[in-house]
Amino acid sequence: MSFDLSVFSNKNIILAVTGGIAAYKSAILVRRLKDYGFNVRVVMTHGAQAFITPLTFQALSGNPVHTELLNPEAEAGMGHIELARWADLVLVAPASCDTIAKFAAGLADDLLSTLYLATKVPVWIAPAMNQQMWAAKATQRNLNTLVEDGVHVIMPDAGSQACGDVGLGRMPEPEDLAEQVKDYFHQAQRALAEKFGLLAGKRVTITAGPTREAIDPVRYISNHSTGKMGFAIAAACYTAGAKVTLIAGPVSLDTPNGVKRINVSSALKMLDESLHQLEEGCDVFIATAAVADYRVAEVAEHKIKKAGDELNIALIKNPDIVATIAQQEKRPFMVGFAAETRNVEEYAAGKLVAKKLDMIACNDVSRADIGFASDQNAMTVFFADQYQLEKRDLEKASKQEIAQQLVEAIHDALNHEIEPV
Ligand code: C5P
Repeated sequence: MSFDLSVFSNKNIILAVTGGIAAYKSAILVRRLKDYGFNVRVVMTHGAQAFITPLTFQALSGNPVHTELLNPEAEAGMGHIELARWADLVLVAPASCDTIAKFAAGLADDLLSTLYLATKVPVWIAPAMNQQMWAAKATQRNLNTLVEDGVHVIMPDAGSQACGDVGLGRMPEPEDLAEQVKDYFHQAQRALAEKFGLLAGKRVTITAGPTREAIDPVRYISNHSTGKMGFAIAAACYTAGAKVTLIAGPVSLDTPNGVKRINVSSALKMLDESLHQLEEGCDVFIATAAVADYRVAEVAEHKIKKAGDELNIALIKNPDIVATIAQQEKRPFMVGFAAETRNVEEYAAGKLVAKKLDMIACNDVSRADIGFASDQNAMTVFFADQYQLEKRDLEKASKQEIAQQLVEAIHDALNHEIEPV
């Protein structure tokens, strides 16, 4: 399960391909950028077309390829000024010596050099050339000029070159380039979220998944919780600008982007880590974990052997993690969950008070279409009295959408608080 695919679907990249054998790598680069969800338009110089055809890039990018400056038909489609405005980033890969020289000199005699002058957005270049051409004084002088002009230069790799030489000048692998582009946009988004997001700067701890209570070295007691809801909430909190720690029981889910994950197994360990997070600093605590209510009183040191028709195992009560955290002096804003099969709202409201929570989200797990292993959920949220907020129904939606609505509910409560408990 992944949370950040297509997150860049509103970001536009112009990939400019210039003349060099590394142009073949740019075809893969288009694929990788598309995999991250970027919109890609390719601009090619005449030199590039000696190495690879526009048709290849058209097929891979799903967009017409731009090659001419003074072509009325092409300009009528998307001219150089429009292209320059469309882009959020211009990536020149490979960037030839000639293109670098043109950029440095401010020439405007083809589509790419004109586009370079006409764009306000960041320009990145990935030079690729013979190692001697890279080392040439003119190239280095031009590169220095470009750096001074604000161009980001992606250093070439060292190694054996298509011409037989060994040295600096190889274009980095497409995967590396695409990842650098992704990281750039990710950091930019993050900076915005940290400043303006609904949970900007808040430190959030989330428990998720089941716990596993050992019986002996090979057996345990657990439950069917998948952790999907908690993981979706962690992703939504991070997107809202929070610093998120996810204390996860044993689940098979990918860690959401940007989230710090701490894996635990038992309820006692989950409580330990939760108390530790409180010491580290926590503003909001969200308990989505399906914590085992009981654990085995005495875990057998060795595997229990089959004997007799009955086996009795004594269980003792586990601590209530969310209630324990709510009793601490440095108490964060507390959010609990309640999964019920009947009298859903009554039981949930009771838990809100009994566990001293600020907010509780409850769902009816007797409904086959939502909850536990399902990808969908529907919930009702109750707030503690002092927030003077109405209960809120979250209609059936994907767990990601429910998570987003929960973030909004937490934000609203944090901003309505009259008197802390
Ligand atoms: O009492 P019940 O298990 O229904 O309460 C559910 C809420 O309490 C959830 O938020 C759950 O994560 C939390 N809980 C806990 N520690 C326990 C049991 C439940 O944090 N031992």
